[in-house]
Amino acid sequence: MALAEFLAELDELTGEAVSAFESAGDAQALEAARIAFLGAKSGRLKAVQKGLGQVARADKPTAGKRFNETKRQIEAAQAAAVERLSRPAGPAEAGRKFDPTVPGLRPSLGHLHPITQTIEELKDIMGRLGFSVAEGPEVEDRWHNFEALNIPAAHPARDPLDNFYLATAAGLAEEKGWLLRSQTSTVQIRVMEQTKPPVRIISLGRVYRPDTADATHYPMFHQIEGLLVDRHVTMADLKSVLRLFAQSFFEDDVHIRFRPSFFPFTEPSVEVDMSWQGGWMEIAGAGMVDPNVLRAVGYDPEEVTGFAFGVGIERICMGRHAIEDIREFFKNDVRFLHQF
Ligand code: PHE
Repeated sequence: MALAEFLAELDELTGEAVSAFESAGDAQALEAARIAFLGAKSGRLKAVQKGLGQVARADKPTAGKRFNETKRQIEAAQAAAVERLSRPAGPAEAGRKFDPTVPGLRPSLGHLHPITQTIEELKDIMGRLGFSVAEGPEVEDRWHNFEALNIPAAHPARDPLDNFYLATAAGLAEEKGWLLRSQTSTVQIRVMEQTKPPVRIISLGRVYRPDTADATHYPMFHQIEGLLVDRHVTMADLKSVLRLFAQSFFEDDVHIRFRPSFFPFTEPSVEVDMSWQGGWMEIAGAGMVDPNVLRAVGYDPEEVTGFAFGVGIERICMGRHAIEDIREFFKNDVRFLHQF
């Protein structure tokens, strides 16, 4: 047998064997390839080996050397296939062993939103001052949001561009003047309509105004409303309550400053500032409940007087935690929320 012919046979065998092992998809195919190429009795390598005895004597060393190379190559292809098929299926499974001593994965616990935390704290503070919590609906009618609060039809606060008015197919919303409440002062009316004086309540919740969101505005935010109606209530009481409120919340000996202002439902009305970090921070609108409001709910303004105040919850929460952008509260980014 000519050397060239023998070497050509070896090359052919190598090619076929390597591709058979490479394409073996399971243990069965692997075993079939092993028998076909490396089988001790009738394997192809064995058959080719017989040809080695037939090459010319002078060519034997070359032929023998190439035969050994071929055998090594085929065996390497087989070993690679064995290794490949013994590896576990998914990459996720690779190298995973069950170790019962490793601590489990802790489920990450959430906590209350900073605004909810603030609300709970405010309830607590005002509760200690004798105020109980009242609730009111977020969808209000024009009587509670405006009329009973002494806000006349022509008042700019009722402008459709400044409110989220609702619409219904039946036109019922039009009739009732339904809207998303623009202030929690609505709850003053609802409580007074249902209870005789004295009244001492707070109400906390969402209010809605079509403001463009920026660092200090958001179309939805939270207010705490306070209302106290009794005999002989004065602005001095209002100032004392607001100061105690601010001192408790900010845990500091803060002072309160009144600036004259106007609200249709209080007379006189004030903007309330609190001393904070060397300056003044506006925290509330407030005033003595307007006699027209007392009359609207059937109270006698000759008998009782009262004060009311409204505080932006986001505002004081931002002040206390030095949060610079109101939009952070509503992004639901846990990296922000986890800090509180
Ligand atoms: N309702 C007013 C507002 O939304 C705040 C306020 C409440 C003012 C109670 C006076 C009395 O701005």
